Amino acid sequence: MKHNKKKPEIIIPKKNNLQVKNIYPKLSNIITNTETGQKYKKGQMIGRGGYACCLKVVDMESQETYACKVSLKNPKTNNLKEAINHRSLNHKNIVKYYGHFSDDDFVYIIMELCDSDINRFYETKGIDKNIILSHIHQIADACHYLHTEKHIVHGDLKPENILIKDGIIKIADFGLSEQLSSKNKKGYWKPGTLQYNAPEILRGKLCGVEIDCWALGCILCQLLTGKITFYSADIEFMKHNILELIHQNQ
Ligand SMILES: Nc1ncnc2c1ncn2[C@@H]1O[C@H](COP(=O)(O)OP(=O)(O)O)[C@@H](O)[C@H]1O
Ligand SMILES: [Mg+2]
Repeated sequence: MKHNKKKPEIIIPKKNNLQVKNIYPKLSNIITNTETGQKYKKGQMIGRGGYACCLKVVDMESQETYACKVSLKNPKTNNLKEAINHRSLNHKNIVKYYGHFSDDDFVYIIMELCDSDINRFYETKGIDKNIILSHIHQIADACHYLHTEKHIVHGDLKPENILIKDGIIKIADFGLSEQLSSKNKKGYWKPGTLQYNAPEILRGKLCGVEIDCWALGCILCQLLTGKITFYSADIEFMKHNILELIHQNQ
């Protein structure tokens, strides 16, 4: 793969992205997998990101409750690839995938329902260093599995994409994930959320699984201090913060 010389275009998911905001009201009360005929009853919305909204659904046959992630069909973000990468995963600290389907407008991913993401968890529970260390350990365990067994870069590790269920960490949102041909391959370049981006992403280089480790470090600092590690309201200054730390250590 060629080195990408294009200036990185930073994607900062917008919470008020009009299209994503409109997904939930557009969904019908019964969501049908037209391939299998399986029907799900629409429940309350549980979260929204830059690309999708997530709601509770009840399988009308088994009466089991699941989380359903609904994203706009978009060849640019390639949300079918998200489902395919997610489908291949089986780890106690990765949110369990149950299936996916699509219709004319949306892609639906059915997965295990978690209690909350860790952003909300820490807002309500406060900071306990032992819990933080245990959470970081579980995220690292999931990353180790993704990287060494699956050669998958998650690409968008951040507190909003790390869920918790009965006290157990579950990594979610494989929307920017990419499977590399081998663990040490550098073939990834998709800027996720700026404040968690590794310097090599900002430099427009092809990256490897290490970018998830960088994001994990940012999350650790954030959980310990309560502040987003490199954050600045000024985007250029935030990029400078990320790049400067590396210069100081070279
Ligand atoms: N399985 C789940 N259980 C509970 N909440 C979830 C689940 N999946 C996602 N969420 C919530 O929905 C939000 C958006 O989902 P996410 O997959 O991150 O979408 P996006 O790709 O748009 O960022 C998450 O930040 C989280 O708060
Ligand atoms: Mg997300």
